[in-house]
Amino acid sequence: MSSAHEYAHAHAARFEQQLNDLLRIPSVSTLPEHAADVQRAAQWLAEDMRRIGLQNVQLPQQSGYLPLVYGEWLGAGEDAPTVLSYCHYDVQPAEMADGWESNPFEPVEREGKVYARGAVDSKSHVIAQLKAVESLLAAGDCPVNLKLLFEGEEESGSDHIFAYVAQHGAALRADAIVVSDGSLPAPDQPVLVYGLRGIISMELTVTGPQRDLHSGHYGGNVHNPIQALAEMIAQLHDANGTVTVPGFYEDVRAVSPEEHALLNANLAQAEQEWRKLTGAPQPWGEAEYTLLERSSARPTLEINGIAGGFYGQGFKTVLPAKATAKISCRLVPDQDPQRIFEQVRDYLAQIAPPTVTIELQLLESGAPGVLFERDSAAMRAAEVAYTRSWGKAPLFTREGGSIPVASSFQQQLDGEIVLMSFGYKGGGAHGPNEYVILDMFHKGIATAITFCQELAATHRP
Ligand code: BES
Ligand code: ZN
Repeated sequence: MSSAHEYAHAHAARFEQQLNDLLRIPSVSTLPEHAADVQRAAQWLAEDMRRIGLQNVQLPQQSGYLPLVYGEWLGAGEDAPTVLSYCHYDVQPAEMADGWESNPFEPVEREGKVYARGAVDSKSHVIAQLKAVESLLAAGDCPVNLKLLFEGEEESGSDHIFAYVAQHGAALRADAIVVSDGSLPAPDQPVLVYGLRGIISMELTVTGPQRDLHSGHYGGNVHNPIQALAEMIAQLHDANGTVTVPGFYEDVRAVSPEEHALLNANLAQAEQEWRKLTGAPQPWGEAEYTLLERSSARPTLEINGIAGGFYGQGFKTVLPAKATAKISCRLVPDQDPQRIFEQVRDYLAQIAPPTVTIELQLLESGAPGVLFERDSAAMRAAEVAYTRSWGKAPLFTREGGSIPVASSFQQQLDGEIVLMSFGYKGGGAHGPNEYVILDMFHKGIATAITFCQELAATHRP
């Protein structure tokens, strides 16, 4: 065991306390009323970066109210490799009313798990990376140069980090780029994620009459906008679950036989986990693809929410004036977000009945899907690091979620990208009673330490 690992071991309890300290700050990036909390979390991180010996610690201005936090240590010398680690410290909203059993911003520990908003997505990753760096520096023999970049608006669309990465390519230069977020399919099964889906989000508004009407007067001769919306939504997939938008799949890469084998190496276990974690009666979706392919290598169109009319207590015989739906698409590599938006918009215009008017608005600029090189020095170092820390070799897999900045790292920087996930997929990210398994948090710290050591040991300047 290296002295960095020994240090991490000796300070494990304090690392957990620091995780709790960060979890107590409600850094919700999607709600403007939490902007000051996001600021506070950024200051907390910057302070800890300074304390552990990082230099040039700053909250770069470009990021406005939801700051990026940057710090570096370049003491390993020019011949040593440089590692850029990225995590996000902002979180999704959480309220007791969503079904939390305890205050989402007052972490509680039960049976080796810490429950709090952001526990698994993604403050345990932030602290794991930060404490790995602390351990490497404290041991006095850190073999890599380090750059840490923490984002405060990943959950709200990553509005500012793209420009930052584009403008600071030279300062962010690294041999390996660690994107630390995401999850493992089972607590004891590490994975190396080599692909993420992209995303676009839209809002569809269907308008009928100029104002809400009495359904006794007009029911039967005015097309109800909620019904029209439902009729349109029902046409966006066929009975197989395939998206019907013309051109939607035209740039989608086929799953090669090699990748099919790789992605499905763990299919039986994944199907079991699927049953346990979703609680849904049975799987759905494109019959010609496996469960895992449907949620990683295939694009989707999803209705995230639908609103309109009266849904208070009792009833109201109203014929509403409008109805809206939030729609998002998960995208795979080569699908262009803007082009997909246009295809969806044109198709909706085509199927909209003449009895209503519609408008489709793009809610954020979107991000494309990404695939990382599987055969890189960084991937091999990560493979060694996971194998040692988890006692089990990682499987290669693609994930269905999105980390918008991943595509800009790939386009703007030339380091080898590795996704480092330490959380469990069942940890309830974005939902109530989110938790992190502490054992995985500590294995994560060990993995991040070994990764740097292994990268340095195999690096050829
Ligand atoms: N941690 C997730 C991304 C993720 C999810 C990676 C599942 C791998 C597997 C991240 O914090 C997230 O939730 N991203 C959003 C991005 C969106 C708000 C632009 C997502 O995927 O919905
Ligand atoms: Zn998230």
